[in-house]
Amino acid sequence: MAVAISKRLATALSVVIILLLVLHRVHSEPTQDKQALLSFLSQIPHENRLQWDPSQSACDWVGVQCDPTNSSVYYLRLPAVGLVGQIPQNTLGRLSQLRVLSLRSNRISAPLPSDLANLTLLRSLYLQNNQFSGEFPTTLTQLTRLTRLDLSSNNFTGQIPFSVANLTHLTGLLLENNGFQGRIPSVVPPNLVDFNVSNNNLNGSIPAALARFPASAFANNVNLCGGPLPSCNPFFPAPAPSPTLSPPSLTPSQRRNNRGLSTAAIVGISIAGGILILLLLLAIIFFLIRRRKRSKTSKPQKPPPIAAARAVGEAGTSSSKDDVTGGSGEGAERNKLMFFGGGGYSFDLEDLLRASAEVLGKGSVGTSYKAVLEEGTTVVVKRLKDVVAAKREFELQMEIVGNVSKHENVAPLRAFYYSRDEKLLVTDYMPAGSLSALLHGSRGSGRTPLDWENRLRIATSAARGLAHLHVSANLVHGNIKSSNILLKQDNLDSCVSDYGLNPLFSNSTPTNHRIMGYRAPEVLETRKVTFKSDVYSFGVLLLELLTGKSPNQASLGEEGIDLPRWVQSVVREEWTAEVFDVELMRYHNVEEEMVQLLQIGMACVAIVPDQRPAMQEVLRMIEDMNRDDGLRNSSDDALRGGSDSQTPPKESRASPSGFTP
Ligand SMILES: *[C@@H]1O[C@H](CO)[C@@H](O)[C@H](O)[C@H]1NC(C)=O
Ligand SMILES: *[C@@H]1O[C@H](CO)[C@@H](O)[C@H](O)[C@H]1NC(C)=O
Ligand SMILES: *[C@@H]1O[C@H](CO)[C@@H](O)[C@H](O)[C@H]1NC(C)=O
Ligand SMILES: *[C@@H]1O[C@H](CO)[C@@H](O)[C@H](O)[C@H]1NC(C)=O
Ligand SMILES: *[C@@H]1O[C@H](CO)[C@@H](O)[C@H](O)[C@H]1NC(C)=O
Ligand SMILES: *[C@@H]1O[C@H](CO)[C@@H](O)[C@H](O)[C@H]1NC(C)=O
Repeated sequence: MAVAISKRLATALSVVIILLLVLHRVHSEPTQDKQALLSFLSQIPHENRLQWDPSQSACDWVGVQCDPTNSSVYYLRLPAVGLVGQIPQNTLGRLSQLRVLSLRSNRISAPLPSDLANLTLLRSLYLQNNQFSGEFPTTLTQLTRLTRLDLSSNNFTGQIPFSVANLTHLTGLLLENNGFQGRIPSVVPPNLVDFNVSNNNLNGSIPAALARFPASAFANNVNLCGGPLPSCNPFFPAPAPSPTLSPPSLTPSQRRNNRGLSTAAIVGISIAGGILILLLLLAIIFFLIRRRKRSKTSKPQKPPPIAAARAVGEAGTSSSKDDVTGGSGEGAERNKLMFFGGGGYSFDLEDLLRASAEVLGKGSVGTSYKAVLEEGTTVVVKRLKDVVAAKREFELQMEIVGNVSKHENVAPLRAFYYSRDEKLLVTDYMPAGSLSALLHGSRGSGRTPLDWENRLRIATSAARGLAHLHVSANLVHGNIKSSNILLKQDNLDSCVSDYGLNPLFSNSTPTNHRIMGYRAPEVLETRKVTFKSDVYSFGVLLLELLTGKSPNQASLGEEGIDLPRWVQSVVREEWTAEVFDVELMRYHNVEEEMVQLLQIGMACVAIVPDQRPAMQEVLRMIEDMNRDDGLRNSSDDALRGGSDSQTPPKESRASPSGFTP
């Protein structure tokens, strides 16, 4: 009996102790990381002004930033604090949750400790302006989450390893001012935005994937060619160094200049030839199109205005009205509302014209009305303006658009109407409105912010819709923007609308300001939308979702910005968080996902169309986001003080799939 009681007491006590431990853990500081940091600082010489008071929380220390629950260190920034010598083993490598490590502008030397490979969540590593020497530390190529790696201004030598291609998330790779040798690997991370290998000893051709970077990113190497530099001459591989060029460090630019003249001439001549042929072709095509158009538009098909007005009245599904047409040639044209299956609608043009209408918005292609028919049906009628397509072309295009197979993320076209004076499209009315309204409508007090889950859901479903258009329907959308992403009322899934209309309009009408910000750069010139230009616009849309800023008319001086360029300029800085919508900053465990979506968006807005991923690839990347890590779940657990919370973070990270809710 006594034994039983004391046993019970013991369990009760241990429960209390565990509770205390849990509370302690949640509310205090990152004990383990603190030990690692203290051990780091005690083993590496540094300036006196870098003092970490062990009695304070590590989260208050200079250069240290913790996660929101203060259970681990997320950011360690110690630039120019006089650190000297090697980073000791078993110190920084224990900061298992670290996201950003900056040790730039110190006097740290090689080798890097191998346990840095354990920092698997590290996103940015800044080691520039130190005294590292020897080979590229391959340990770093195991940090597959890295988005930015800066090793510039050190004394590295040897080859740039092929395994840098493993760093698939990398957007910045800065290796300038070192002694790297040999060729640049032909496979490089796909999403690089910042790249620099100038002032090294590299030779050989610049891989095509890097040709988009400016010459200054490759300047001052031994013998690089191709890309932005003079092209490699396959017939004369290694021009024998002429006796006048003696010190190898001086030769490259001179040699390049010597070769530059002749290659430049050749390139110039061939480009001129190419342009001439292209111009000829364009001229021929232009004339052909002009002739076709003229022959089409000159067909006698225009009814006099009054007849057209009457035709409007008589159009409809009932054939009993046909006799009103009065046997004119127009009668055969049957100006009817043409329905596609699936909407379950039964009304005619007359009903539509009698409906009470309310302007929903003026878009680049025309004005949209919400029309409530007498029988109670509500539809959206879009009144197209500036259509240049003749009736036949219009009908053909509508057939393509109307027959896009059913998909839950594609808003179907229900009907259309064509007459000389009036071109109408009928679609379903979606009361939840557009993404544009949800994202930009009534900012400030009284607004319910659009949370991250829903933004991600909208992005994913819109990507599905767009990929369906591209893959199943082989149709370019041509007008992606947030006001054409409509939301479903029940679950905020989205669907894409207003697709496939570009062929109806003239290429020469000036681009509407409101869609300018979504236009891929090449479309502004060629005026031709493609699958890849859709991907660009979708990328801008992703950036809009992430930043909460609407993309437009920067060049026009109105409110608004060139979103891709703005994001790039911010991301170039170390701290990417300020790029995100302030409304998203309240959600703490989603940072990782936001960064991933940002990277996908950035890949989509690549300047060169061929470098943008295909839409189905974009969809796959979005759907795959974060499937592999369970980070959010584990940090949720830590927040809740769940049963996991006493296991060291390293272990819970080491078995990401093993978390239990
Ligand atoms: C985390 O630490 C910081 C700095 O010491 C402190 O301001 C903040 O209140 C702490 N947060 C929690 C949740 O303990
Ligand atoms: C990385 O962490 C694991 C435990 O999570 C440890 O066993 C291993 O030794 C560490 N690796 C290095 C290189 O320190
Ligand atoms: C690189 O190494 C050379 C000699 O090997 C040395 O003179 C130079 O100071 C080093 N540069 C840096 C930035 O450490
Ligand atoms: C990294 O790249 C190397 C060489 O390209 C390859 O052998 C290795 O399997 C890759 N490692 C990972 C983790 O992908
Ligand atoms: C490039 O440099 C390496 C040594 O740095 C040399 O072995 C190789 O032959 C060079 N290649 C060319 C094409 O010049
Ligand atoms: C590359 O680095 C060099 C040296 O720091 C700099 O002059 C050049 O402007 C950089 N180029 C690019 C494209 O960043």
